[in-house]
Amino acid sequence: MEQILEMRNITKDFPGVRALDQVNFAVKSGEIHCLVGENGAGKSTLMKVLSGVYGSKEYTGDIVFMDEVQNFSSIRDSEAKGIAIIHQELALIPELSIYENVFLGHEIHKGGFIDWNETITQSKKYLKMVNLDVDTEQKVVNLGVGQQQLIEIAKALSKDVKLLILDEPTAALTDEESENLLVLLKTLKKENVTSIMISHKIKEVIEVADTVTVLRDGKTICSLSKEKDEIKSQIIIKNMVGREINDVFPKRKPKEPGDIILEVANINSFNHEIGRQVVKDSSFFVRKGEVVGIAGLMGAGRTELSLSIFGNPLGYNMTGDVFIEGKKVNLRHPKDAIKNGLAYVTEDRKGNGLILIQDVKQNISLANLGALSKYTYINMNEEVKIANEYRDSINIKTPSIEQKVQNLSGGNQQKVSLAKWLFTSPKVLILDEPTRGIDVGAKYEIYTLINALIEQGLSIIMISSELPEVIGMSDRIYVMNEGHIAGVLSRAEATQERIMEIATD
Ligand SMILES: Nc1ncnc2c1ncn2[C@@H]1O[C@H](COP(=O)(O)OP(=O)(O)OP(=O)(O)O)[C@@H](O)[C@H]1O
Ligand SMILES: [Mg+2]
Repeated sequence: MEQILEMRNITKDFPGVRALDQVNFAVKSGEIHCLVGENGAGKSTLMKVLSGVYGSKEYTGDIVFMDEVQNFSSIRDSEAKGIAIIHQELALIPELSIYENVFLGHEIHKGGFIDWNETITQSKKYLKMVNLDVDTEQKVVNLGVGQQQLIEIAKALSKDVKLLILDEPTAALTDEESENLLVLLKTLKKENVTSIMISHKIKEVIEVADTVTVLRDGKTICSLSKEKDEIKSQIIIKNMVGREINDVFPKRKPKEPGDIILEVANINSFNHEIGRQVVKDSSFFVRKGEVVGIAGLMGAGRTELSLSIFGNPLGYNMTGDVFIEGKKVNLRHPKDAIKNGLAYVTEDRKGNGLILIQDVKQNISLANLGALSKYTYINMNEEVKIANEYRDSINIKTPSIEQKVQNLSGGNQQKVSLAKWLFTSPKVLILDEPTRGIDVGAKYEIYTLINALIEQGLSIIMISSELPEVIGMSDRIYVMNEGHIAGVLSRAEATQERIMEIATD
């Protein structure tokens, strides 16, 4: 197979960080090439260099694509050569229809006007290619993440893509959607579309990759190819983190759980926007020093249930009772919930977890400014001190706490979000998909942190779609099914099969 791409000695600096250090990266024509590495290893940056997001003046080294040295100065330049990138954050315009989105930026013209009929016909063709069976006139806002992902791919295909780059495409997809996407990549491969996929999910990497390249600390560590090497998770992980990780879930000291700290009774929650009851008659409790898992399929109501307790920020029509340490509390706003010792680390760190244009320290102090303020002043020295403490204790990779959060890698943004809520000194910490988009090494750190918090007497509610994680970390697991709690399992009873049975019954 001939080479379609070679990146040679790529070096890219940001103020205070060398994100890429003499990286070499070669891709064969028609292969699926997976790019893996810890959070902050430089994966997204390398792909941004390749696609012209960072122009040729902003890095050193060479890009050879289809036997030509390329000096892209914008995304448009790389697109013109047949490179399409689908970023970690999706970039569709929610208020526009599917067909408008597919041809946005490269509209089909006829006699000086946009040819809408042809646009619709063509977009139908591309939707079919990606196996998406929806009306092209629908607005994108009504689609799920998985479907939006497919539309981005349809868009790329409509531009006659030769090299498709996907940055963590399956991070927010269900298992089934992820599987469909992987199948699609394999189909495109038969049509000689080359793909580069960044992923933290080692299992899917092993499933689709012809070649795997590992980056660590901005350097190329190795490239494993299916023809020559054995591509196994042990080997990939070892190269990613530079050490062996045998015990994925660190052990907690066995301990009798304490008294019930949080009890939730008969929660019903109605979402007017979609005209549906999202939580049905759900009750559960959490004891001091316990990790309680909440499992269930996507859309089963796990996030809605926990948000209902956390002051109901989405404004659902809600009934039910919440008791903290045996006392009935009235939580009408997240502020009330925080005051009563609850904290919520959201699954959507971009949407409502963090203020991206503010720096690390400001984000950490965000939910607990009270602790830092005297009268109306914020004690800046204290803010700096606390931010540095968290940076060290949970290992946030950033050149300084003055760095804007938007400049951190995805996994490190997640850690800032965690620090922010730890700083509120909660009694019960709700973690919603805490390790989504997080590399294996950092996952281990987060699990260790969970154990340390439990040791200190905190209680944790963990919502997670990753069954091994729920089973590996929880003392008890509630399983939700279509809005209600359909069962509860102890750690000893819980298996993936048992949880799935209850979740889909
Ligand atoms: N715009 C930017 N300004 C400053 N630093 C940046 C910027 N973008 C990335 N960095 C830094 O460059 C390094 C590489 O980041 P990059 O986003 O490429 O990591 P990644 O491998 O994609 O990680 P993740 O798996 O968490 O998405 C990190 O240290 C990050 O903080
Ligand atoms: Mg990234």
